[in-house]
Amino acid sequence: MDGARIETVALQENGLTVLLPDGRPAYFNAWWLRDNCPSSFDPVTRERVFDIFHHATTPRPDEARIEEGALVVYWSGEDHVSRYPLDMLSAYSDGLDRADPADLPRRPWFADHYPNLTRVSHPALLEDASERRRWMEALLVEGVAIVTDMPDSDEALTRTSGLLGTIRPSFFGSYFDVRVHVKPTNLAYTSAALELHTDVPAEELAPGIQYLHCRRNSVAGGRNLFLDGTAVANDLRAADPEAFRLLTEVAVPFYKEHDGIDMRARQRVIELDRKGEVAGVTISQHMADIFDLPQDLMDSYYPAFVKFGRMLQDDKYVMRFSLKAGECISFDNHRIVHGREAYSATSGERYLRGTYTDRGELRGLYRAMVTRGRFA
Ligand SMILES: [Fe+2]
Repeated sequence: MDGARIETVALQENGLTVLLPDGRPAYFNAWWLRDNCPSSFDPVTRERVFDIFHHATTPRPDEARIEEGALVVYWSGEDHVSRYPLDMLSAYSDGLDRADPADLPRRPWFADHYPNLTRVSHPALLEDASERRRWMEALLVEGVAIVTDMPDSDEALTRTSGLLGTIRPSFFGSYFDVRVHVKPTNLAYTSAALELHTDVPAEELAPGIQYLHCRRNSVAGGRNLFLDGTAVANDLRAADPEAFRLLTEVAVPFYKEHDGIDMRARQRVIELDRKGEVAGVTISQHMADIFDLPQDLMDSYYPAFVKFGRMLQDDKYVMRFSLKAGECISFDNHRIVHGREAYSATSGERYLRGTYTDRGELRGLYRAMVTRGRFA
């Protein structure tokens, strides 16, 4: 070893400093280094197999040097040498979240989005990975996409949702049917409007990705309403920062009493991500419980809640269209707010079948599709 190489690593009391290839000195803690020795990970399962909790001593390097693009550490009191590629150290040198290929910037959309909605066909999705990628990216970036050319079968929805993850049951079961049987004798019957909502906030973790497969739609009226909750929340943030703050910080109760079950969960109406950006919204008047907040907090919370609820209904945001038989709309249930206009049940037939998968599995499949992973 020569003198110049020794100067690139300096031992410290609790770790060491390394001169990275870009010329920056970077500090690494000795516990972190010992825990993340590349030998800590099983080459087959890629899981950590090293147990830092039962490590006999406080990790302390006896000696460390740079060799062939790697930091080599000889550990004190144990017969172990660690070799860290400098690229790996560079990736963890600034304390920022590990880069996430699924963390694509959200693109807010407004009422005029319908002609630009991403559309992918069911047969193409089954055959073509690039079409699946386009679909996933639409869900990550815009939160919504329509799958066309769906066969008129239960299996079609199972196969479509199965491309983005495992069916995620709710307390309604694995699937749900939205259907009104035509009864010509019941001429007075009109199906009511369905208020704007996200699904099932009474569950601790509301379902992530929702699929609504339109099997029949020949009724008069009943247009579908969809809006991007992040677009509305971003506008509220600009217009009324205090209302926005309340909706991001105060969790309110939701409930559903249904077939022998009493579901309850608390949710924040506006959800922020780790960067402080609006990630989504939760809204449902039919599942909102009686707010049990301090009554003086209600003085400021209710005006904020109502202001946001009115904004959601603004024509600036609400995309109105009729799903056609053979189409399946897929959307992020934590971001996209949906509803339905009233329709006349006697005017025809309307049948939608729905199910859910989770957002985490979508992101996991997307990462695996577009990158080779940490251990590749
Ligand atoms: Fe719904």
